[in-house]
Amino acid sequence: MCGIIGYVGNRNGSDVVINGLKKLEYRGYDSWGVAVKGNPSISIQKQVGKISDFKDVGSFPSDGIAIGHTRWATNGKVTKENSHPHTCCTGKIAVVHNGIIENYQELKKELVSHTFSSETDTEIISHLIEENMDSGLGFEDSVRAAITRLDGRFAVVAVCTSSDKVVAARKGSPLVIGVGDCAHEGEFFVASDIPAFLEYTNKVVFLEDGDVAIIHDGIRYSDFYGKRVERLPTEISWGVEQAELNGHEHYMIKEILEQKDTIRMAITQEEDRIMRVADMINRSFGTFFIGCGTAGKVGSIGSYLFSSIAGKHVNCVVGSEFPNYHDFLTDKTLIVCISQSGETADTLEAIEVAKKKGCKVVSIVNVMGSTMMRMSDDYIMCNSGPEKAVCSTKVTTAQIAILMKLAYACAGRLDEGNRFLSSVSTKVEIMLDDKYLENVQFLAKRIAGHESMYIIGRSHNYPVALEGAIKMQEVPYIHAEGFAGGELKHGPIALIQNGTPCIALVANDDVKKDTIINALEIKSRGGFIIGIAPENNEVFDFWVPVPDVGLASPIVNIIPMQLLSYFTALERKCDPDKPRNLAKSVTVK
Ligand code: G6P
Repeated sequence: MCGIIGYVGNRNGSDVVINGLKKLEYRGYDSWGVAVKGNPSISIQKQVGKISDFKDVGSFPSDGIAIGHTRWATNGKVTKENSHPHTCCTGKIAVVHNGIIENYQELKKELVSHTFSSETDTEIISHLIEENMDSGLGFEDSVRAAITRLDGRFAVVAVCTSSDKVVAARKGSPLVIGVGDCAHEGEFFVASDIPAFLEYTNKVVFLEDGDVAIIHDGIRYSDFYGKRVERLPTEISWGVEQAELNGHEHYMIKEILEQKDTIRMAITQEEDRIMRVADMINRSFGTFFIGCGTAGKVGSIGSYLFSSIAGKHVNCVVGSEFPNYHDFLTDKTLIVCISQSGETADTLEAIEVAKKKGCKVVSIVNVMGSTMMRMSDDYIMCNSGPEKAVCSTKVTTAQIAILMKLAYACAGRLDEGNRFLSSVSTKVEIMLDDKYLENVQFLAKRIAGHESMYIIGRSHNYPVALEGAIKMQEVPYIHAEGFAGGELKHGPIALIQNGTPCIALVANDDVKKDTIINALEIKSRGGFIIGIAPENNEVFDFWVPVPDVGLASPIVNIIPMQLLSYFTALERKCDPDKPRNLAKSVTVK
Protein backbone atom coordinates (compact mmCIF):
# COMPACT_ATOMS: atom_id res chain seq x y z
CA MET A 1 0.00 0.00 0.00
CA CYS A 2 2.19 2.75 -1.45
CA GLY A 3 5.86 2.13 -2.02
CA ILE A 4 8.54 4.65 -1.10
CA ILE A 5 12.23 4.83 -1.87
CA GLY A 6 15.12 7.19 -1.21
CA TYR A 7 18.72 7.14 -2.43
CA VAL A 8 21.94 8.86 -1.39
CA GLY A 9 25.14 8.08 -3.32
CA ASN A 10 27.26 8.66 -6.37
CA ARG A 11 24.94 7.21 -8.94
CA ASN A 12 22.33 9.14 -10.83
CA GLY A 13 19.67 9.27 -8.07
CA SER A 14 16.67 9.45 -10.41
CA ASP A 15 17.72 6.23 -12.21
CA VAL A 16 17.98 4.32 -8.94
CA VAL A 17 14.66 5.65 -7.68
CA ILE A 18 12.74 5.06 -10.93
CA ASN A 19 14.14 1.56 -11.13
CA GLY A 20 13.18 0.94 -7.48
CA LEU A 21 9.67 2.28 -7.96
CA LYS A 22 9.08 -0.24 -10.75
CA LYS A 23 9.99 -2.98 -8.26
CA LEU A 24 7.64 -1.53 -5.66
CA GLU A 25 4.65 -1.15 -7.97
CA TYR A 26 2.97 -4.18 -6.42
CA ARG A 27 2.34 -1.94 -3.38
CA GLY A 28 0.20 0.49 -5.36
CA TYR A 29 0.09 1.87 -8.87
CA ASP A 30 -2.48 4.67 -9.01
CA SER A 31 0.25 7.26 -9.62
CA TRP A 32 3.97 7.84 -9.15
CA GLY A 33 6.37 10.67 -8.44
CA VAL A 34 10.11 11.32 -8.17
CA ALA A 35 12.01 14.22 -6.59
CA VAL A 36 15.71 14.86 -7.17
CA LYS A 37 17.57 17.28 -4.96
CA GLY A 38 19.29 19.45 -7.54
CA ASN A 39 21.15 22.67 -7.01
CA PRO A 40 19.51 25.08 -6.10
CA SER A 41 16.03 23.51 -6.30
CA ILE A 42 14.26 20.18 -6.03
CA SER A 43 13.16 18.82 -9.40
CA ILE A 44 9.90 16.86 -9.34
CA GLN A 45 8.00 14.78 -11.89
CA LYS A 46 4.73 13.02 -11.13
CA GLN A 47 2.06 11.32 -13.18
CA VAL A 48 -1.14 9.33 -12.80
CA GLY A 49 -0.71 5.64 -13.78
CA LYS A 50 1.94 2.96 -13.39
CA ILE A 51 5.51 4.14 -13.76
CA SER A 52 6.32 1.01 -15.76
CA ASP A 53 3.84 2.15 -18.43
CA PHE A 54 5.79 5.39 -19.04
CA LYS A 55 8.49 5.35 -21.72
CA ASP A 56 9.34 8.98 -20.94
CA VAL A 57 9.42 9.86 -17.24
CA GLY A 58 10.75 13.37 -17.87
CA SER A 59 14.23 14.71 -17.23
CA PHE A 60 16.02 15.13 -13.93
CA PRO A 61 19.31 16.62 -12.78
CA SER A 62 22.00 13.95 -12.40
CA ASP A 63 22.41 14.48 -8.63
CA GLY A 64 22.78 11.59 -6.24
CA ILE A 65 20.00 12.41 -3.76
CA ALA A 66 16.49 11.37 -4.81
CA ILE A 67 13.21 10.09 -3.38
CA GLY A 68 10.19 8.49 -5.04
CA HIS A 69 6.72 7.12 -4.42
CA THR A 70 4.22 4.78 -6.06
CA ARG A 71 0.73 5.42 -4.73
CA TRP A 72 -2.35 3.45 -3.71
CA ALA A 73 -4.80 6.27 -3.10
CA THR A 74 -6.24 6.59 0.43
CA ASN A 75 -6.63 10.28 1.16
CA GLY A 76 -7.50 12.18 -1.99
CA LYS A 77 -8.50 11.10 -5.48
CA VAL A 78 -6.15 9.63 -8.07
CA THR A 79 -4.78 12.89 -9.54
CA LYS A 80 -1.40 14.33 -10.38
CA GLU A 81 -1.80 16.91 -7.58
CA ASN A 82 -2.37 14.19 -5.00
CA SER A 83 0.64 12.16 -6.15
CA HIS A 84 3.73 12.25 -3.96
CA PRO A 85 6.31 13.74 -3.38
CA HIS A 86 4.55 16.62 -1.63
CA THR A 87 6.30 19.90 -1.06
CA CYS A 88 5.98 22.84 1.31
CA CYS A 89 4.91 26.36 0.25
CA THR A 90 8.32 27.28 -1.17
CA GLY A 91 9.06 23.90 -2.76
CA LYS A 92 12.26 23.59 -0.68
CA ILE A 93 11.15 20.46 1.17
CA ALA A 94 9.80 17.30 -0.46
CA VAL A 95 8.27 14.32 1.33
CA VAL A 96 7.09 10.84 0.40
CA HIS A 97 4.90 8.89 2.79
CA ASN A 98 3.27 5.49 3.21
CA GLY A 99 0.54 5.13 5.81
CA ILE A 100 -2.20 7.34 7.12
CA ILE A 101 -2.01 10.49 9.26
CA GLU A 102 -5.14 10.33 11.37
CA ASN A 103 -4.93 13.88 12.80
CA TYR A 104 -4.05 15.71 9.57
CA GLN A 105 -7.26 17.77 9.58
CA GLU A 106 -6.55 19.19 13.05
CA LEU A 107 -2.92 19.89 12.10
CA LYS A 108 -4.00 21.60 8.88
CA LYS A 109 -6.14 24.02 10.88
CA GLU A 110 -3.00 25.13 12.74
CA LEU A 111 -1.16 25.85 9.49
CA VAL A 112 -3.50 28.58 8.26
CA SER A 113 -0.71 30.63 6.71
CA HIS A 114 0.38 27.73 4.48
CA THR A 115 -0.88 27.08 0.97
CA PHE A 116 -1.82 23.47 0.32
CA SER A 117 -1.87 22.08 -3.18
CA SER A 118 -3.32 18.60 -2.64
CA GLU A 119 -6.12 16.82 -0.75
CA THR A 120 -3.69 14.39 0.91
CA ASP A 121 -2.81 13.85 4.55
CA THR A 122 0.86 13.63 3.52
CA GLU A 123 1.23 17.26 2.52
CA ILE A 124 0.83 18.25 6.15
CA ILE A 125 4.27 16.75 6.85
CA SER A 126 6.19 18.99 4.44
CA HIS A 127 4.43 22.08 5.82
CA LEU A 128 5.11 21.05 9.42
CA ILE A 129 8.81 20.62 8.57
CA GLU A 130 8.79 24.02 6.88
CA GLU A 131 7.17 25.61 9.93
CA ASN A 132 9.86 24.10 12.17
CA MET A 133 12.68 25.24 9.89
CA ASP A 134 11.21 28.74 9.75
CA SER A 135 11.34 28.82 13.53
CA GLY A 136 15.09 28.15 13.41
CA LEU A 137 15.48 24.36 13.70
CA GLY A 138 17.80 22.48 11.35
CA PHE A 139 16.34 20.08 8.78
CA GLU A 140 16.96 16.91 10.80
CA ASP A 141 15.41 18.32 13.98
CA SER A 142 12.53 19.80 12.00
CA VAL A 143 11.62 16.37 10.63
CA ARG A 144 11.76 14.92 14.14
CA ALA A 145 9.64 17.71 15.55
CA ALA A 146 7.11 17.22 12.72
CA ILE A 147 6.71 13.47 13.08
CA THR A 148 6.17 13.63 16.82
CA ARG A 149 2.99 15.57 15.99
CA LEU A 150 1.58 12.81 13.78
CA ASP A 151 -1.02 10.25 14.87
CA GLY A 152 -1.43 7.10 12.81
CA ARG A 153 0.92 4.80 10.93
CA PHE A 154 3.63 6.18 8.71
CA ALA A 155 6.91 5.69 6.91
CA VAL A 156 8.29 9.02 5.76
CA VAL A 157 11.31 10.06 3.70
CA ALA A 158 12.15 13.76 3.36
CA VAL A 159 14.68 15.89 1.47
CA CYS A 160 15.39 19.62 1.62
CA THR A 161 17.32 22.02 -0.63
CA SER A 162 19.46 23.37 2.23
CA SER A 163 20.74 20.00 3.44
CA ASP A 164 22.60 17.03 1.95
CA LYS A 165 20.78 14.69 4.30
CA VAL A 166 17.86 12.42 3.59
CA VAL A 167 15.81 11.86 6.74
CA ALA A 168 13.59 8.77 7.09
CA ALA A 169 11.29 7.77 9.93
CA ARG A 170 8.88 4.97 10.67
CA LYS A 171 5.96 4.23 12.93
CA GLY A 172 3.78 1.31 11.92
CA SER A 173 4.55 1.24 8.17
CA PRO A 174 7.58 -0.67 6.90
CA LEU A 175 10.92 0.95 6.09
CA VAL A 176 14.19 -0.82 5.31
CA ILE A 177 17.63 0.69 4.84
CA GLY A 178 20.02 -0.75 2.24
CA VAL A 179 23.71 -0.23 2.95
CA GLY A 180 25.97 -0.19 -0.14
CA ASP A 181 28.30 -3.18 -0.37
CA CYS A 182 32.10 -2.90 -0.45
CA ALA A 183 32.16 -1.95 -4.14
CA HIS A 184 29.75 0.89 -3.48
CA GLU A 185 30.60 2.15 -0.04
CA GLY A 186 29.00 5.42 0.89
CA GLU A 187 25.73 4.76 -0.86
CA PHE A 188 22.49 4.17 0.98
CA PHE A 189 18.95 3.20 0.09
CA VAL A 190 15.75 3.45 2.06
CA ALA A 191 12.59 1.75 0.86
CA SER A 192 9.32 0.12 1.84
CA ASP A 193 10.65 -3.26 0.82
CA ILE A 194 13.96 -4.93 -0.05
CA PRO A 195 13.38 -5.73 -3.78
CA ALA A 196 13.48 -1.96 -4.45
CA PHE A 197 17.27 -1.99 -4.00
CA LEU A 198 18.20 -5.68 -3.97
CA GLU A 199 20.19 -5.39 -7.19
CA TYR A 200 22.58 -2.99 -5.42
CA THR A 201 22.93 -4.52 -1.98
CA ASN A 202 21.67 -7.29 0.26
CA LYS A 203 22.93 -5.60 3.46
CA VAL A 204 19.83 -4.27 5.18
CA VAL A 205 18.73 -2.62 8.41
CA PHE A 206 15.08 -3.08 9.37
CA LEU A 207 14.02 0.16 11.05
CA GLU A 208 12.07 -0.26 14.27
CA ASP A 209 8.94 1.70 15.08
CA GLY A 210 10.05 5.04 16.48
CA ASP A 211 13.34 5.09 14.52
CA VAL A 212 14.72 7.99 12.51
CA ALA A 213 17.56 7.38 10.01
CA ILE A 214 19.72 10.30 8.98
CA ILE A 215 21.45 9.44 5.74
CA HIS A 216 24.34 11.48 4.43
CA ASP A 217 27.85 10.17 3.71
CA GLY A 218 27.19 7.74 6.54
CA ILE A 219 24.09 6.78 8.41
CA ARG A 220 22.96 7.58 11.95
CA TYR A 221 19.94 6.30 13.80
CA SER A 222 17.98 8.00 16.55
CA ASP A 223 14.59 7.87 18.17
CA PHE A 224 11.94 10.51 17.39
CA TYR A 225 13.49 12.77 20.07
CA GLY A 226 17.09 12.63 18.83
CA LYS A 227 18.51 10.01 21.23
CA ARG A 228 21.05 7.85 19.38
CA VAL A 229 20.12 4.20 18.78
CA GLU A 230 22.30 1.43 17.38
CA ARG A 231 21.07 -0.53 14.34
CA LEU A 232 23.26 -3.15 12.71
CA PRO A 233 22.87 -4.45 9.15
CA THR A 234 22.03 -8.05 8.40
CA GLU A 235 22.58 -9.85 5.11
CA ILE A 236 19.50 -11.29 3.51
CA SER A 237 19.63 -14.39 1.38
CA TRP A 238 17.15 -13.48 -1.39
CA GLY A 239 18.85 -13.43 -4.79
CA VAL A 240 18.06 -10.73 -7.36
CA GLU A 241 16.80 -13.38 -9.79
CA GLN A 242 14.13 -14.46 -7.27
CA ALA A 243 12.60 -11.01 -7.53
CA GLU A 244 12.67 -10.91 -11.35
CA LEU A 245 10.40 -12.35 -14.05
CA ASN A 246 13.09 -14.72 -15.40
CA GLY A 247 11.45 -15.18 -18.78
CA HIS A 248 7.87 -15.46 -17.53
CA GLU A 249 5.24 -13.11 -18.87
CA HIS A 250 3.91 -12.28 -15.40
CA TYR A 251 4.92 -12.70 -11.78
CA MET A 252 1.65 -14.48 -11.08
CA ILE A 253 2.38 -17.45 -13.39
CA LYS A 254 6.03 -17.48 -12.26
CA GLU A 255 4.92 -17.70 -8.65
CA ILE A 256 2.23 -20.33 -9.35
CA LEU A 257 4.85 -22.51 -11.04
CA GLU A 258 7.33 -21.95 -8.20
CA GLN A 259 5.00 -24.06 -6.07
CA LYS A 260 6.93 -27.00 -7.51
CA ASP A 261 9.60 -25.98 -4.98
CA THR A 262 8.01 -23.66 -2.42
CA ILE A 263 5.96 -26.31 -0.59
CA ARG A 264 9.16 -28.21 0.11
CA MET A 265 10.90 -24.98 1.13
CA ALA A 266 8.03 -24.20 3.53
CA ILE A 267 8.14 -27.55 5.26
CA THR A 268 11.91 -27.36 5.67
CA GLN A 269 11.94 -25.78 9.12
CA GLU A 270 14.03 -26.06 12.26
CA GLU A 271 12.35 -28.83 14.19
CA ASP A 272 12.86 -26.97 17.49
CA ARG A 273 10.91 -23.99 16.23
CA ILE A 274 7.99 -26.14 15.04
CA MET A 275 7.90 -28.02 18.35
CA ARG A 276 8.09 -24.75 20.30
CA VAL A 277 5.10 -23.29 18.45
CA ALA A 278 3.16 -26.57 18.61
CA ASP A 279 3.75 -26.57 22.35
CA MET A 280 2.40 -23.00 22.59
CA ILE A 281 -0.73 -24.10 20.72
CA ASN A 282 -1.19 -27.17 22.89
CA ARG A 283 -0.75 -25.18 26.09
CA SER A 284 -2.95 -22.24 25.12
CA PHE A 285 -6.46 -21.89 26.38
CA GLY A 286 -7.95 -20.74 23.08
CA THR A 287 -5.98 -20.30 19.87
CA PHE A 288 -7.01 -17.91 17.09
CA PHE A 289 -5.77 -17.99 13.50
CA ILE A 290 -5.85 -14.45 12.11
CA GLY A 291 -5.33 -13.22 8.56
CA CYS A 292 -6.81 -10.98 5.89
CA GLY A 293 -7.90 -11.78 2.34
CA THR A 294 -6.28 -14.95 1.11
CA ALA A 295 -4.36 -15.36 4.37
CA GLY A 296 -7.72 -15.32 6.20
CA LYS A 297 -8.89 -18.24 4.03
CA VAL A 298 -5.67 -20.08 4.88
CA GLY A 299 -6.57 -19.65 8.55
CA SER A 300 -9.98 -21.26 7.95
CA ILE A 301 -8.37 -24.16 6.11
CA GLY A 302 -5.99 -24.46 9.08
CA SER A 303 -8.84 -24.73 11.56
CA TYR A 304 -10.26 -27.72 9.61
CA LEU A 305 -6.79 -29.29 9.47
CA PHE A 306 -6.24 -28.86 13.22
CA SER A 307 -9.59 -30.47 13.87
CA SER A 308 -8.92 -33.52 11.72
CA ILE A 309 -5.20 -34.00 12.41
CA ALA A 310 -4.80 -32.82 16.01
CA GLY A 311 -8.41 -33.04 17.27
CA LYS A 312 -8.06 -29.43 18.34
CA HIS A 313 -10.50 -26.57 18.06
CA VAL A 314 -8.91 -23.41 16.68
CA ASN A 315 -10.88 -20.24 16.00
CA CYS A 316 -10.31 -18.32 12.80
CA VAL A 317 -11.09 -14.61 12.58
CA VAL A 318 -10.23 -12.05 9.89
CA GLY A 319 -7.88 -9.34 11.13
CA SER A 320 -10.35 -6.46 10.89
CA GLU A 321 -12.93 -8.33 13.03
CA PHE A 322 -10.54 -9.64 15.65
CA PRO A 323 -10.69 -6.53 17.90
CA ASN A 324 -14.40 -7.35 18.41
CA TYR A 325 -13.36 -10.60 20.10
CA HIS A 326 -11.39 -8.84 22.84
CA ASP A 327 -13.81 -10.07 25.52
CA PHE A 328 -12.65 -13.64 24.88
CA LEU A 329 -8.94 -12.93 25.29
CA THR A 330 -6.84 -13.72 28.33
CA ASP A 331 -3.14 -14.21 29.02
CA LYS A 332 -3.67 -17.89 28.13
CA THR A 333 -4.88 -17.08 24.61
CA LEU A 334 -2.56 -17.58 21.65
CA ILE A 335 -2.98 -15.78 18.36
CA VAL A 336 -1.33 -17.15 15.22
CA CYS A 337 -1.10 -14.42 12.57
CA ILE A 338 -0.88 -15.53 8.97
CA SER A 339 0.46 -13.01 6.47
CA GLN A 340 2.61 -12.95 3.36
CA SER A 341 3.93 -9.42 3.89
CA GLY A 342 3.86 -9.30 7.67
CA GLU A 343 2.69 -5.69 7.27
CA THR A 344 -1.11 -5.90 6.88
CA ALA A 345 -2.51 -3.15 9.10
CA ASP A 346 -5.64 -5.06 10.20
CA THR A 347 -3.56 -8.01 11.36
CA LEU A 348 -1.08 -5.72 13.09
CA GLU A 349 -3.94 -4.08 14.92
CA ALA A 350 -5.18 -7.52 15.99
CA ILE A 351 -1.75 -8.11 17.53
CA GLU A 352 -1.94 -4.80 19.41
CA VAL A 353 -5.36 -5.75 20.81
CA ALA A 354 -4.13 -9.23 21.76
CA LYS A 355 -0.99 -7.89 23.42
CA LYS A 356 -3.00 -5.52 25.58
CA LYS A 357 -4.80 -8.61 26.93
CA GLY A 358 -1.49 -10.40 27.56
CA CYS A 359 -1.99 -12.99 24.80
CA LYS A 360 0.99 -14.73 23.21
CA VAL A 361 1.58 -14.06 19.50
CA VAL A 362 3.05 -16.27 16.79
CA SER A 363 3.31 -15.21 13.16
CA ILE A 364 3.62 -17.20 9.96
CA VAL A 365 5.10 -14.72 7.48
CA ASN A 366 7.13 -14.62 4.30
CA VAL A 367 9.07 -11.40 4.84
CA MET A 368 12.04 -11.56 7.18
CA GLY A 369 12.22 -8.52 9.43
CA SER A 370 8.57 -7.60 8.83
CA THR A 371 6.67 -5.72 11.54
CA MET A 372 4.51 -8.76 12.34
CA MET A 373 7.52 -11.00 12.77
CA ARG A 374 9.11 -8.49 15.13
CA MET A 375 5.94 -7.97 17.15
CA SER A 376 5.55 -11.72 17.72
CA ASP A 377 6.83 -13.92 20.53
CA ASP A 378 7.82 -16.50 17.93
CA TYR A 379 7.54 -16.84 14.16
CA ILE A 380 7.75 -19.29 11.29
CA MET A 381 9.02 -18.12 7.91
CA CYS A 382 7.32 -19.36 4.74
CA ASN A 383 10.67 -19.45 2.89
CA SER A 384 8.92 -18.79 -0.45
CA GLY A 385 11.18 -16.00 -1.73
CA PRO A 386 9.67 -12.66 -2.76
CA GLU A 387 6.05 -12.79 -3.91
CA LYS A 388 5.34 -9.87 -6.23
CA ALA A 389 2.00 -10.47 -7.96
CA VAL A 390 -0.68 -8.69 -5.93
CA CYS A 391 -2.67 -11.86 -5.28
CA SER A 392 -0.99 -14.45 -3.15
CA THR A 393 -0.32 -17.88 -4.67
CA LYS A 394 2.90 -19.64 -3.67
CA VAL A 395 2.83 -18.25 -0.14
CA THR A 396 -0.77 -19.48 0.28
CA THR A 397 0.16 -23.12 -0.24
CA ALA A 398 3.32 -22.64 1.84
CA GLN A 399 1.17 -21.35 4.73
CA ILE A 400 -1.26 -24.28 4.43
CA ALA A 401 1.67 -26.71 4.46
CA ILE A 402 3.11 -25.03 7.58
CA LEU A 403 -0.23 -25.16 9.41
CA MET A 404 -0.54 -28.81 8.48
CA LYS A 405 2.96 -29.49 9.79
CA LEU A 406 2.06 -27.71 13.03
CA ALA A 407 -1.12 -29.78 13.34
CA TYR A 408 0.92 -32.98 13.03
CA ALA A 409 3.41 -31.61 15.57
CA CYS A 410 0.57 -30.83 18.01
CA ALA A 411 -0.67 -34.39 17.59
CA GLY A 412 2.83 -35.75 18.36
CA ARG A 413 3.09 -37.12 14.79
CA LEU A 414 5.57 -34.71 13.23
CA ASP A 415 7.64 -37.37 11.41
CA GLU A 416 4.52 -38.79 9.80
CA GLY A 417 3.47 -35.24 8.82
CA ASN A 418 6.88 -34.50 7.31
CA ARG A 419 6.83 -37.66 5.20
CA PHE A 420 3.30 -36.97 4.07
CA LEU A 421 3.94 -33.31 3.17
CA SER A 422 7.09 -34.25 1.31
CA SER A 423 5.04 -36.65 -0.85
CA VAL A 424 2.47 -33.88 -1.46
CA SER A 425 5.25 -31.56 -2.60
CA THR A 426 6.49 -34.19 -5.08
CA LYS A 427 2.96 -34.65 -6.44
CA VAL A 428 2.58 -30.88 -6.99
CA GLU A 429 5.91 -30.86 -8.80
CA ILE A 430 4.71 -33.60 -11.17
CA MET A 431 1.25 -32.03 -11.59
CA LEU A 432 2.42 -28.64 -12.86
CA ASP A 433 3.57 -29.64 -16.36
CA ASP A 434 2.78 -27.91 -19.68
CA LYS A 435 -0.13 -30.26 -20.47
CA TYR A 436 -1.74 -29.41 -17.16
CA LEU A 437 -1.49 -25.70 -17.88
CA GLU A 438 -2.95 -26.19 -21.38
CA ASN A 439 -6.00 -27.95 -19.96
CA VAL A 440 -6.74 -25.08 -17.55
CA GLN A 441 -6.05 -22.53 -20.29
CA PHE A 442 -8.63 -24.30 -22.49
CA LEU A 443 -11.16 -24.06 -19.63
CA ALA A 444 -10.34 -20.36 -19.17
CA LYS A 445 -11.30 -19.70 -22.81
CA ARG A 446 -14.67 -21.39 -22.17
CA ILE A 447 -15.58 -19.39 -19.09
CA ALA A 448 -14.00 -16.02 -19.95
CA GLY A 449 -17.22 -14.65 -21.47
CA HIS A 450 -19.27 -15.21 -18.28
CA GLU A 451 -19.79 -12.46 -15.72
CA SER A 452 -20.79 -14.74 -12.80
CA MET A 453 -19.65 -18.07 -11.49
CA TYR A 454 -20.02 -20.15 -8.33
CA ILE A 455 -17.67 -22.44 -6.47
CA ILE A 456 -18.69 -25.08 -3.97
CA GLY A 457 -16.73 -27.13 -1.49
CA ARG A 458 -17.36 -28.84 1.79
CA SER A 459 -15.29 -29.34 4.92
CA HIS A 460 -11.58 -28.51 4.23
CA ASN A 461 -12.56 -27.44 0.73
CA TYR A 462 -15.18 -24.93 1.82
CA PRO A 463 -12.56 -22.21 2.56
CA VAL A 464 -10.84 -23.27 -0.67
CA ALA A 465 -14.10 -22.34 -2.47
CA LEU A 466 -13.97 -18.92 -0.78
CA GLU A 467 -10.35 -18.47 -1.82
CA GLY A 468 -11.15 -19.58 -5.38
CA ALA A 469 -13.87 -16.92 -5.49
CA ILE A 470 -11.46 -14.20 -4.34
CA LYS A 471 -9.05 -15.22 -7.10
CA MET A 472 -11.76 -15.03 -9.79
CA GLN A 473 -12.86 -11.63 -8.47
CA GLU A 474 -9.48 -9.97 -8.12
CA VAL A 475 -7.68 -11.25 -11.22
CA PRO A 476 -10.20 -11.59 -14.13
CA TYR A 477 -12.89 -9.40 -12.41
CA ILE A 478 -15.60 -12.06 -12.60
CA HIS A 479 -18.39 -11.94 -10.06
CA ALA A 480 -17.59 -15.21 -8.29
CA GLU A 481 -18.96 -16.56 -5.03
CA GLY A 482 -17.85 -19.49 -2.95
CA PHE A 483 -20.29 -21.53 -0.89
CA ALA A 484 -20.35 -24.47 1.45
CA GLY A 485 -21.92 -27.13 -0.79
CA GLY A 486 -24.80 -27.60 1.64
CA GLU A 487 -25.73 -23.93 1.62
CA LEU A 488 -26.32 -23.72 -2.08
CA LYS A 489 -29.90 -24.93 -1.96
CA HIS A 490 -30.72 -22.33 0.71
CA GLY A 491 -30.65 -19.43 -1.73
CA PRO A 492 -27.79 -19.17 -4.22
CA ILE A 493 -29.17 -21.98 -6.41
CA ALA A 494 -31.76 -19.44 -7.60
CA LEU A 495 -28.95 -17.71 -9.48
CA ILE A 496 -28.03 -20.73 -11.61
CA GLN A 497 -28.96 -20.30 -15.26
CA ASN A 498 -28.25 -22.25 -18.41
CA GLY A 499 -24.47 -22.46 -18.79
CA THR A 500 -23.50 -20.72 -15.52
CA PRO A 501 -20.02 -22.04 -14.68
CA CYS A 502 -19.92 -23.80 -11.28
CA ILE A 503 -16.80 -25.35 -9.86
CA ALA A 504 -17.09 -28.33 -7.51
CA LEU A 505 -14.02 -28.85 -5.33
CA VAL A 506 -13.83 -32.52 -4.54
CA ALA A 507 -11.45 -34.67 -2.49
CA ASN A 508 -11.46 -38.33 -1.59
CA ASP A 509 -12.96 -37.66 1.81
CA ASP A 510 -16.15 -38.19 3.84
CA VAL A 511 -17.98 -35.35 2.10
CA LYS A 512 -17.16 -36.35 -1.48
CA LYS A 513 -20.58 -37.92 -2.14
CA ASP A 514 -22.42 -34.88 -0.78
CA THR A 515 -20.40 -32.48 -2.94
CA ILE A 516 -21.16 -34.58 -6.03
CA ILE A 517 -24.88 -34.50 -5.12
CA ASN A 518 -24.68 -30.69 -4.87
CA ALA A 519 -23.02 -30.60 -8.28
CA LEU A 520 -25.88 -32.72 -9.66
CA GLU A 521 -28.41 -30.30 -8.18
CA ILE A 522 -26.70 -27.41 -10.00
CA LYS A 523 -26.43 -29.39 -13.23
CA SER A 524 -30.17 -30.13 -13.15
CA ARG A 525 -30.72 -26.36 -13.24
CA GLY A 526 -28.49 -25.89 -16.29
CA GLY A 527 -25.15 -25.15 -14.56
CA PHE A 528 -21.90 -26.00 -16.38
CA ILE A 529 -20.06 -28.20 -13.90
CA ILE A 530 -16.30 -28.00 -13.61
CA GLY A 531 -14.91 -30.67 -11.31
CA ILE A 532 -11.56 -30.11 -9.61
CA ALA A 533 -11.11 -33.62 -8.30
CA PRO A 534 -8.75 -36.59 -8.13
CA GLU A 535 -11.17 -38.68 -10.26
CA ASN A 536 -13.51 -37.86 -13.10
CA ASN A 537 -17.26 -38.13 -12.53
CA GLU A 538 -20.14 -38.21 -14.98
CA VAL A 539 -21.61 -35.05 -13.44
CA PHE A 540 -18.59 -33.03 -14.57
CA ASP A 541 -18.89 -31.18 -17.88
CA PHE A 542 -15.18 -30.40 -17.56
CA TRP A 543 -12.64 -32.15 -15.36
CA VAL A 544 -9.45 -30.63 -13.93
CA PRO A 545 -7.57 -33.53 -12.35
CA VAL A 546 -5.60 -33.13 -9.13
CA PRO A 547 -3.45 -35.67 -7.29
CA ASP A 548 -5.15 -37.68 -4.57
CA VAL A 549 -3.48 -36.31 -1.43
CA GLY A 550 -6.06 -36.97 1.29
CA LEU A 551 -6.14 -34.22 3.91
CA ALA A 552 -3.80 -32.03 1.87
CA SER A 553 -6.50 -31.57 -0.81
CA PRO A 554 -6.73 -27.79 -0.12
CA ILE A 555 -3.12 -27.46 -1.36
CA VAL A 556 -3.73 -29.21 -4.65
CA ASN A 557 -7.27 -27.87 -5.20
CA ILE A 558 -6.19 -24.23 -4.77
CA ILE A 559 -3.55 -24.47 -7.53
CA PRO A 560 -5.98 -25.02 -10.47
CA MET A 561 -8.07 -22.12 -9.11
CA GLN A 562 -4.96 -19.92 -9.22
CA LEU A 563 -4.21 -21.05 -12.78
CA LEU A 564 -7.81 -20.55 -13.88
CA SER A 565 -7.92 -17.01 -12.53
CA TYR A 566 -4.61 -16.24 -14.26
CA PHE A 567 -5.56 -17.62 -17.69
CA THR A 568 -9.07 -16.13 -17.53
CA ALA A 569 -7.51 -12.74 -16.74
CA LEU A 570 -5.36 -13.05 -19.86
CA GLU A 571 -8.44 -13.92 -21.94
CA ARG A 572 -10.23 -10.87 -20.54
CA LYS A 573 -7.18 -8.64 -21.12
CA CYS A 574 -6.73 -7.90 -17.41
CA ASP A 575 -3.31 -7.35 -15.83
CA PRO A 576 -2.89 -10.39 -13.55
CA ASP A 577 -0.02 -8.88 -11.58
CA LYS A 578 -1.63 -5.54 -10.84
CA PRO A 579 -5.41 -5.83 -10.58
CA ARG A 580 -7.35 -2.59 -10.46
CA ASN A 581 -7.99 -0.93 -7.07
CA LEU A 582 -5.82 -3.43 -5.15
CA ALA A 583 -2.41 -3.42 -3.55
CA LYS A 584 -0.33 -6.27 -2.24
CA SER A 585 0.63 -4.86 1.07
CA VAL A 586 -2.40 -3.28 2.72
CA THR A 587 -0.86 -1.06 5.37
CA VAL A 588 -3.97 1.00 6.13
CA LYS A 589 -7.10 -0.05 8.01
C1 G6P B 1 -4.16 -7.94 0.02
C2 G6P B 1 -3.73 -8.84 -1.12
C3 G6P B 1 -4.11 -10.29 -0.84
C4 G6P B 1 -3.57 -10.72 0.52
C5 G6P B 1 -4.02 -9.77 1.64
C6 G6P B 1 -3.32 -10.07 2.95
O1 G6P B 1 -5.52 -7.82 0.05
O2 G6P B 1 -4.32 -8.41 -2.33
O3 G6P B 1 -3.58 -11.14 -1.85
O4 G6P B 1 -4.03 -12.00 0.80
O5 G6P B 1 -3.68 -8.43 1.29
O6 G6P B 1 -1.95 -9.81 2.81
P1 G6P B 1 -0.84 -10.47 3.73
O7 G6P B 1 0.44 -9.82 3.29
O8 G6P B 1 -1.20 -10.15 5.14
O9 G6P B 1 -0.87 -11.94 3.47
